[in-house]
Parts: sequence; C-alpha cells; structure tokens
Amino acid sequence: MTFDEVRESAKKNISNCKACPVCNGLGCGNTIPGPGSKAPGNGANVNWSAWQKIGLNMDVFAPDGAVDTGCELFGAKLKLPLLSGPIGSLTQYSKTDVTLEYNDGVIEAAAKCGFIDCFGDGVTPQTLPGGLISMEHYQAAAVPILNPFPNDVILKHIEKINKSSAVAVGVVADSAGLSVWTGKGLKFGSKTPDEMKELRAASEKPFIVKGIMTAKNAEQAVACGADGIIVSNHGGRVLPGAPATAEVLPEIVAAVGGAAKIIVDGGLRSGSDILKALAMGADAVMICRPFPVAWFGAGAEGVTVYVEKLRMELVEAMYMCGARKLTDISPEMVRV
Ligand SMILES: Cc1cc2nc3c(=O)[nH]c(=O)nc-3n(C[C@H](O)[C@H](O)[C@H](O)COP(=O)(O)O)c2cc1C
Repeated sequence: MTFDEVRESAKKNISNCKACPVCNGLGCGNTIPGPGSKAPGNGANVNWSAWQKIGLNMDVFAPDGAVDTGCELFGAKLKLPLLSGPIGSLTQYSKTDVTLEYNDGVIEAAAKCGFIDCFGDGVTPQTLPGGLISMEHYQAAAVPILNPFPNDVILKHIEKINKSSAVAVGVVADSAGLSVWTGKGLKFGSKTPDEMKELRAASEKPFIVKGIMTAKNAEQAVACGADGIIVSNHGGRVLPGAPATAEVLPEIVAAVGGAAKIIVDGGLRSGSDILKALAMGADAVMICRPFPVAWFGAGAEGVTVYVEKLRMELVEAMYMCGARKLTDISPEMVRV
C-alpha cells in the first residue's frame, strides 16, 4: 500500500479534512472545529511555506555507506527522530468520537516503526488512561502531553504518569489560546514560571514544555527545569500573526545552547524537511496533521506506511547531503 492509496481511502472516512496531496493548510483553511488554523486561517500554511524556502546543499564527495536514521531521545531508542503530534479530540475529524481508537492505532505504529507517539489528555476523562493502556500494551515509546488545566488537575495526571512507562511528560502551554475548547468552558489557562516549576518538580520523568516560540520563553522553560521544549505555534491554531516555527528555530537553538532537547513542529511534511530542522539545530521533529489522514485511511497500517515513507525520504536526503548518521548532520547542509 502506498501513502497515496492510504490518502484516497481516508477521503471516505474523514470529515473537515480533504486529505490533500500536500498537507499545507490551504485545504482546511480556518476550519475549526476541524484541522484548520485560527481565522483568517493561514497559520498552518505560514509554517509549511517557511520550510519550503529553506534549501539543502548536496555533497557528492562524502564517503559512501549506508544511512542510519536511528537515535536516542529521553532514553527511548528510535528508528528516526520523529514524534507524532497530540490530538486531544478526534471529534475534529469525525462525528463519532474515535479518540481512543486513534491513539491506540498510532501507538501501535509507534512501537512498530520506532517513533515516539504523543497523545493528549483530551476533553474527556478517558483519553489519558486510554493512551496509557495502549502504550503499556504495545510497549511503545509514548509521551502524554497535558493541557494547561489548573495545576491541581495536572498534578493528579502527573502522579499517574509517574507510575507508567511513559518516556516523558509534556505540558502544552499554548493551548490556553484555543478558543474552540475554552469557549466551551474548559478551564485552560496560561502558567507562570512558578506554576510550571511546580509541575516540573512533580514529574519523575523528563519534562517537556510545548508551545515555545521565543528565545525568552525558551530560556524561561529551561530555568523551570524543562528537559525538552517543543518549538510550536500549535499548527497556527492559537495566534494569527505568529511567525513560522522554522523562522524562530535558530534564535531558540542559540538561546537554549544545548541545555534542553529541542523538538520543532509546524508544517514539516517530508524527510527533507526533517533534515532541514536537524541541520538548524533541532534534536527531533513533531508532525501532526498527516497522522489522522494515515489512520483514517488504513488504521495502524496506514500510519506505518506514512512513517516508513518519511524515513526513506530522510535516508535519501541525508545520503545526498553527505550524512550517513544523524550526528553527521551540520548547519552547512541548509541554505537559508
Ligand atoms: C485537530 C488538531 C488537534 C490538536 N490537538 C492538540 C492537543 O490536544 N494538544 C496539543 O498539544 N496539540 C494539539 N494540536 C497541535 C499539534 O499537536 C501540532 O502541534 C500542530 O498541529 C503542528 O503540527 P502540524 O503542522 O504537523 O500539524 C492539534 C492539532 C490539530 C490539527
């Protein structure tokens, strides 16, 4: 099965998303609820376009040899430096709530293909325990990414996660700007550094802050004790006018100076895009919107097809740029 076949099949089952040949935010526009960006609806495309403007430099004089895309992140051995983006509720894609089934399928594929699945704590109380059960069942590398509920709620979730095999725990600070949920009375709110420190102190796992878009916030997250940050503007869903993640990545990499792992998301769609992000200083990338397309198309098998396609693209891009392993990737490989 090819990913194009998976995509065609997804069109029969998925709502609000057109399963476009290129997932660049133009098809979904400002569809929220749905997978789009906050009105006027160009945020996802801003992210995608920025990666397209970055070039890759070929190196045809490198020694020949096989390419290895394997790495270790937060103690998990991965076949490629990839995390799937959390989706708190699949009701954005279908009338029936298939959030638990979706998380189960992506987690199954994570175990098979060697990436980290990130799942949300969603808007129903079953989402977090459901994800934890699937994670243990498939013995997958997974990270729950918790919404910015009041700290007493998050602390209870962290207590459960401490007892699980999760490789890390994350808090998505920028969900405070999600009008689709806050408008329905969900108590998401912004965090002070002291509140974030309290959450960090409660976690026995590596602690990740998602939704960092400035060098200042990156430094603050590190000062709070974050082991990792996710450079993300929530796929354009929280702040119209936010810059592209590719644009802010270099200044954030410089500010963090190796003190925390850096993951970047937003519009990365190919193995070449992954190589660009790593050459610009990210340790790994997160990809979100193509995952539901893959799952609605062919379940866990569709996700496997998608991730294997990404891995092969990364192999070919690394080969042409002279990198045979991830540690060979260097800033000279990109033409910004
Ligand atoms: C429908 C939808 C729901 C999302 N739900 C969550 C969520 O619950 N928690 C979270 O941290 N991010 C959520 N995100 C953001 C993604 O995880 C990711 O940060 C973003 O989509 C950027 O990646 P992309 O351009 O590859 O989609 C959601 C994104 C979409 C499209």
